[in-house]
Amino acid sequence: MSVAIELAAVGKRFERAGGAGGDYVALDGFTLEVREGEFFCLLGPTGCGKSTVLHLVAGFERPSAGSVKVFGSAVAAPDADRGVVFQTEQALFPWLTVEENVAFGLRMRGVAPAERDAILDRNLELVGLPRHRAKFPRELSGGMKQRVQIARALANDPRILLMDEPFGALDAQTRRRMQEEVARIWSATGKTVIFITHDIGEAIWLADRVGVMTRGPGARVKEIVEVDLPRPRHAMNAAYVELYNRLSATIQAEAEAMLND
Ligand SMILES: Nc1ncnc2c1ncn2[C@@H]1O[C@H](COP(=O)(O)OP(=O)(O)O)[C@@H](O)[C@H]1O
Ligand SMILES: [Mg+2]
Repeated sequence: MSVAIELAAVGKRFERAGGAGGDYVALDGFTLEVREGEFFCLLGPTGCGKSTVLHLVAGFERPSAGSVKVFGSAVAAPDADRGVVFQTEQALFPWLTVEENVAFGLRMRGVAPAERDAILDRNLELVGLPRHRAKFPRELSGGMKQRVQIARALANDPRILLMDEPFGALDAQTRRRMQEEVARIWSATGKTVIFITHDIGEAIWLADRVGVMTRGPGARVKEIVEVDLPRPRHAMNAAYVELYNRLSATIQAEAEAMLND
C-alpha cells in the first residue's frame, strides 16, 4: 500500500516572543507514515503538539528539521488537495454566509456556477444545514459552525482530510451522527484522513490505526495501535474495551509524567 503522508524526523521550534526563556521545541524526531486511504487518529495530552502536526501536513507551518511529504512531494504550501477542519470554530469567514463559506474554495478555483451549486447543495445536505444556508456564522451554534467547516473541506473533494478535534463542541447526539457521517464518507470515497481527538472511544470507533503522542516538549509518536475490528464497530465488544484500556493507560502515563516535569 502506498504512503500518502510522511513525516520523517520532523522538528518544530517556535520562537518565544521577547526571547525570554528561549524557543519552544514542540516536536523533535517526529516520524509517522499514513497510508493512502487510511483513517488515522492522533491522540495525545493537551498541548503536546497535535495541532502542530496537522498544520505541518496542511502546509500552514514549515518544519524546523526533517521533512513533511504528501504523496511523495515535499509540502510547500496549503493546497485544495488537503482539506482542513480546524479546532477553532472561528475558522469560518465571518463576513460570508454559510453557503458562501462552503463555496469559497470552489469560487477560488473557478468552478462553473451550476456545478458549484450542485456541490454546495450536496454538502449542505450532508451536514444537515440546507435550511441555514443564508445565515452568517455569528447566527450559528458552535456545533453548526463545525458542520459548515466540514462541508467546506469536503466541497473541494480533497484526497486528504485533516480534522482537528472537529466534534469537540458538539452535543452527544450530533457528535454520534457526524461520526457516522465521516465514517461513511471515508469508506465511500477512499480519502486519507488524519483525525485528532481527545476521545479514545471516538478514535477506536473511527480509526484503522491510532497513534498516541508523547507529551511535549520534543513530542513524537509514542505508540501506534492497529484497530483490527470489523465495521461498524460496537463499543461493548471485548476487543474494543481492551484497546480502550490500553490507549487509556498510555495517555494516562504521559499526562501523569507531565505533572511531574
Ligand atoms: N504559533 C505558535 N507559537 C508559539 N508556540 C506555539 C505555536 N503553536 C503552538 N505552540 C506551542 O506548541 C505546543 C503544541 O501546541 P499544539 O500543537 O497546539 O498542541 P495540541 O494541539 O496537542 O494541544 C504548545 O506548547 C503551544 O503553546
Ligand atoms: Mg490542538
